[in-house]
Amino acid sequence: MNLNAPAYVKNPKLIAWVADMAALCKPSAIHWCDGSQEEYDRLCQQLVDAGTFKKLNPAKRPNSFLACSDPSDVARVEDRTYICSEKKENAGPTNNWMAPAEMRATLQPLFDGCMQGRTMYVVPFSMGPLGSPIAHVGIELSDSAYVAVNQRIMTRMGKAVYDVIGTDGAFVPCVHTVGAPLTAGQADVKWPCNKTKYIVHYPETREIWSYGSGYGGNALLGKKCFALRIASNMGRDQGWLAEHMLILGVTNPQGKKYHVAAAFPSACGKTNFSMLVPPAGFEGWKVTTIGDDIAWIKPSADGKLHAINPEAGYFGVAPGTNFHTNPNCMASLDKNVIFTNVALTDDGDVWWEGMEKDSGALPDHLIDWQGKDWTPQIARETGAKAAHPNARFTVAATNNPALDSAWDDAAGVVIDAFIFGGRRSTTVPLVTEARTWTEGVYMAATMGSETTAAAAGQQGVVRRDPFAMLPFMGYNMSDYFQHWLNMGDKLKATGAKLPAIYCVNWFRKGEDGKFVWPGYGENMRVLKWMIDRIEGAAKGKDNVFGVSPTYEEITWTGLDFTPEQFKTVTSIDKAAWVQELKLHEELFTQLAYHLPSEMTATKAAIELRLEA
Ligand code: OXD
Ligand code: MN
Repeated sequence: MNLNAPAYVKNPKLIAWVADMAALCKPSAIHWCDGSQEEYDRLCQQLVDAGTFKKLNPAKRPNSFLACSDPSDVARVEDRTYICSEKKENAGPTNNWMAPAEMRATLQPLFDGCMQGRTMYVVPFSMGPLGSPIAHVGIELSDSAYVAVNQRIMTRMGKAVYDVIGTDGAFVPCVHTVGAPLTAGQADVKWPCNKTKYIVHYPETREIWSYGSGYGGNALLGKKCFALRIASNMGRDQGWLAEHMLILGVTNPQGKKYHVAAAFPSACGKTNFSMLVPPAGFEGWKVTTIGDDIAWIKPSADGKLHAINPEAGYFGVAPGTNFHTNPNCMASLDKNVIFTNVALTDDGDVWWEGMEKDSGALPDHLIDWQGKDWTPQIARETGAKAAHPNARFTVAATNNPALDSAWDDAAGVVIDAFIFGGRRSTTVPLVTEARTWTEGVYMAATMGSETTAAAAGQQGVVRRDPFAMLPFMGYNMSDYFQHWLNMGDKLKATGAKLPAIYCVNWFRKGEDGKFVWPGYGENMRVLKWMIDRIEGAAKGKDNVFGVSPTYEEITWTGLDFTPEQFKTVTSIDKAAWVQELKLHEELFTQLAYHLPSEMTATKAAIELRLEA
């Protein structure tokens, strides 16, 4: 078929690959996205005409749309996600694996003709500021216009990317299909997808092939697939870090600025933390967002770690977001947004669970994310949610009123501290600083998150989520621990001061089963203690696995939080820690292949301290 490649596409390898993929997928047309506003508007209108998008009331939510997916296609599919390295052990025990040749043989018939009756969009995107030495380019081929418009928000997408790759620059090839070819005359559905799904990564050849889903991380291939799974492989080979981390700036009243990168498992309030509003008592402090989900971090020759947000937008979870939990996020969502799987109000606006906290009441009537009537009574009687719990917004970073002025800086920002946070109702204290880089790697390697679906009154089951990377690790987890240790050695060798490493837990519960720490903006108090530590202004006190604040070292102005409450969120219960270390042992047994000896040595040192 005629490729119709625009004259500004000058990369023969890219053109040959598009030709190969077109021959395989057999689309009826090819559209080379230029990333313009005009193109975005046209594709959105096309999605409205197809019934995929509903245009929201422009008086309430200008230039915004609602898409409701097929009920079977609402989240990332971890069990269908594969790391197809040549050797199984290089994918490691935490990933699904299939030999590349076998996977290629499996996918070949599925992709053959998969785009029939559809347009193949060629979506050029830069992960990170265009031309930044920390950025990398991808090209996504997709038969979904929903993907094309979302990618324009989530990445630096458009023509200029072709200037970056020129005639022979590298790019990561990403192929995506919803897996729903149309025969001549066959009417389309609003949300085409396929029951069969494959999210496949070939780490050695740095390729991504995604089949059958139109949703989020399965389809917007720059995000989890490229920026974490493939990029973690690039980072290991090239000496940098691709992390599931937000990046924020903190400026103190004297104007001194710090940068922090923080890893939390999914659904632990990452977006909220990245847009934190300092509470009463912190006048003059400023928190600004560089990124809300992913960080690419490269060391410079002088031993500093420079971080960028490879993304350009936020694909965040809507339910639970309101003016109390995240006022900056709410302000970001007032225009130019694509919502997916939230509810529709009678006046053409959007609604999700949690918004009643702002308005003080539930709406009388909604159309829920599945197109059904929703009323408070129906919700009470059936438990029906108006918005799917994983409903999302896609919005440009530039909508965020707290966006950091350096968010698009090609040089990135220099990281002063890493934070690793799990969700634990017991055991793990509010905040602990690692005494050494190795201790920090240990904290990150053993972090865990309690399943939130645990029965009432029961303690959640702890899912270990090393570095919050469990679903996103592109190679053997223990080799990744080693990569972090090697990075520490490399930084130390320059004589530079290493970033401090902290472990936090906002989720300790009291005997009444309620959260003790107020969280959200109040987390600023913990951030301030970290900065005091970095400046040598807080001494802290040693505990079995790091250094914790004393009650007096936290700034309490504007918050009533008693020493007893503080004890509840910071106490270290020896018996619980003995149990906890048994779980670390289980994790290390699972990760035994290539597990760095530093991990078991650190565990032994904690055990000794516990016994003392
Ligand atoms: C996300 C996730 O969507 O971590 O960011 O699951
Ligand atoms: Mn995430």
